[in-house]
Amino acid sequence: MRVLVIGSGAREHALVNGLLRDPSVTEVVCAPGNAGIAVVTKTVPVDASSGAAVTELAQQLAADLVVIGPEVPLVLGVADALRAAGIPAFGPSRDAARIEGSKAFAKDVMAAAGVRTAHSEVVDNPAKLDAALDRFGPVWVVKDDGLAAGKGVVVTPDRFKAREHAAECLEIGHPVLLESFLDGPEVSLFCLVDGTTVVPLLPAQDHKRVGDGDTGPNTGGMGAYTPLPWLPDAMVDRIVTEVCEPVAAEMVKRGCGFSGLLYAGLAIGKDGPSVVEFNCRFGDPETQAVLAMLESPLGELLYATATGTLASVEKPRWKDGSAVTVVLAAENYPGRPRMGDVITGATGANVLHAGTTKRDEDGAVVSAGGRVVSVVGVGEDLVAARDAAYATLAGIKLPGGHFRSDIGLAAVEGRISI
Ligand code: GLY
Repeated sequence: MRVLVIGSGAREHALVNGLLRDPSVTEVVCAPGNAGIAVVTKTVPVDASSGAAVTELAQQLAADLVVIGPEVPLVLGVADALRAAGIPAFGPSRDAARIEGSKAFAKDVMAAAGVRTAHSEVVDNPAKLDAALDRFGPVWVVKDDGLAAGKGVVVTPDRFKAREHAAECLEIGHPVLLESFLDGPEVSLFCLVDGTTVVPLLPAQDHKRVGDGDTGPNTGGMGAYTPLPWLPDAMVDRIVTEVCEPVAAEMVKRGCGFSGLLYAGLAIGKDGPSVVEFNCRFGDPETQAVLAMLESPLGELLYATATGTLASVEKPRWKDGSAVTVVLAAENYPGRPRMGDVITGATGANVLHAGTTKRDEDGAVVSAGGRVVSVVGVGEDLVAARDAAYATLAGIKLPGGHFRSDIGLAAVEGRISI
């Protein structure tokens, strides 16, 4: 099977590595990829947002499967273009991708499916903002109702900061969603969904704030670990039956069945799981940890999802132990990151590249994005996995680079409970 992977982040690097481990996959091409992905497989340029360009490339390569990593091409309908040309695509249609692309659509689906989530209100008029803020908080949860690479959410006890973020979104023409605050530890559960069949992967936990101890602004994610030692074994089944299956069924009912990766971001409260958000693709950085634990052939699972045959493949098998991923970010991320810094030591199977490129003049690998690389550690438990990840990180040098030193630490120290 020849597979084309669309995207250029550490998530796509992890997908490429996973596919290369599958004996049924004969060739993997990544477009556009990055400097690290280019070391392990062929990369080619493409306008990833153009359905016509991605389809033409897939046809040139005679790809048997196209795996679309990021949300933007999905929201723009790249998977639809591929399917119209008869090419199996891993990723939802434009209509189904609204589960991520429009928070208001996601809320409507959840209400119809009877799925527990935060109470919310959409504000699209600055004149109505203050009255709406008065009906929420503290704590205020303010979400940009559009794609914002995980950075469009502000959670704050400070009404001034909440108002400031909402006003900024409204100013650029984006409606905002105000939500009641959901208490309880967060879980990211990724499910393969082929319309009706829902197959969960290992649960993971992201670390969204930039600083140790969950301080500072939200980022796209600074690190993650899997599985979650504090999560009762039965909770994954409960999330599948109470959240993911009803949402998948509701989307089929609406004529926009979901095919691809349904990412449920949840808060686990005393009464059970509540949805914080849905995404329509693999999460970054959780994927880097989750796929490091996968023993089953990845290509087979993604192909079965794309072709509606998930019910007929063996359930995913997992390694024993734990995996941790830690993100090394560029100076000033999540603000405007500094780019062009030379990065050294970022080699080996446990280093997944994101914002990196090769400098034309001398071939040096330099930073080209906010999250520069993810390192992955796998071990017999979370302590060993953390040790492995931070040992790899110690060998990488990036001027101005920063990372969190506490990925998975609260779980190791038993500080997370439901
Ligand atoms: N881990 C956050 C995201 O992928 O959006």
